[in-house]
Amino acid sequence: MKNFLTLQDLTKEEIIDLLNLADQLKFERKNGIPHPILKGKTLGLIFQKSSTRTRVSFEVGMYELGGYPLFLSSRDLQIGRGEPIEDTGRVLGRYLDGIMIRTFDQKEVEDLAKWSGKPVINALTDYSHPCQVLADLMTIREHKGAFDGLKVCYIGDGNNMANSIIVGSLKVGMKVSVACPKGYYPAQKVLDFAKDYPGMFELTEDPKVAALDADVFFTDVWTSMGEEAETEKRKQVFAGKYQINEEIMKLAHKDAMVQHCLPAHRGEEITADVFEAHANEIFDEAENRLHAQKAVMVTLMKD
Ligand code: CP
Ligand code: NVA
Repeated sequence: MKNFLTLQDLTKEEIIDLLNLADQLKFERKNGIPHPILKGKTLGLIFQKSSTRTRVSFEVGMYELGGYPLFLSSRDLQIGRGEPIEDTGRVLGRYLDGIMIRTFDQKEVEDLAKWSGKPVINALTDYSHPCQVLADLMTIREHKGAFDGLKVCYIGDGNNMANSIIVGSLKVGMKVSVACPKGYYPAQKVLDFAKDYPGMFELTEDPKVAALDADVFFTDVWTSMGEEAETEKRKQVFAGKYQINEEIMKLAHKDAMVQHCLPAHRGEEITADVFEAHANEIFDEAENRLHAQKAVMVTLMKD
């Protein structure tokens, strides 16, 4: 594994290896066992969009691994004034041991990997959010014990989260049913990928179909970062139907869990009641960003 750009790039075994390492690093942290595996290494963190979890978990994670994280906001970098990614990549590649980037276009992440020559980690694009879904898989395995036989239900916008949930869940052996309104489906590339998993994937416009016998619920905001101008239009399309609520959860298995990458909009994609009833699972998920990303950094950057 040279980079962490999309979950499509990884084999099932590579994903499981990352999850096992994340579990080990979590155990060590909880038991006060230091793990300075990346002592002396540097990781640049380029942010072209806002972040709470990603920024803090990468900074803390790199520190706990003995390395040094550099927060690089695009507001300050010359990228923000139009310096091309191929020049930024060639410069940063000479200073840093690895680069994490949160941006808009997936191609920018691929280009950064190409031009920097150093390991690059995708920390969210419009297309995918693989770090988040790695943490989600870790959380599902922690709570459910195994992946085999589980059904994942995603209700909402066919966005970066939907794309990565579909790919990650299918790769580790879970069934996936996704409910999105017409015109807001997941990326065609991901729907094509799912064709290789016959009988394991379903796309519907009816959340009740997707929720049937589910073991794990996912949702995400109706309007993602960069789409703010569409907020009102999207509310009209999604409201009253594309929401995780008590009624929809009655169709699932009794012990179904709920995941939300956060930030959450209570009363929109999820009710406050369901959110609070499953807060333990949702904040375990947020915590696991730290452990899962440490596993990614170690795998990509250790000598
Ligand atoms: N889930 C997630 O990526 O959160 P942030 O946007 O706060 O980093
Ligand atoms: N789909 C959301 C995820 C935020 C973590 C967005 O891209 O804004």
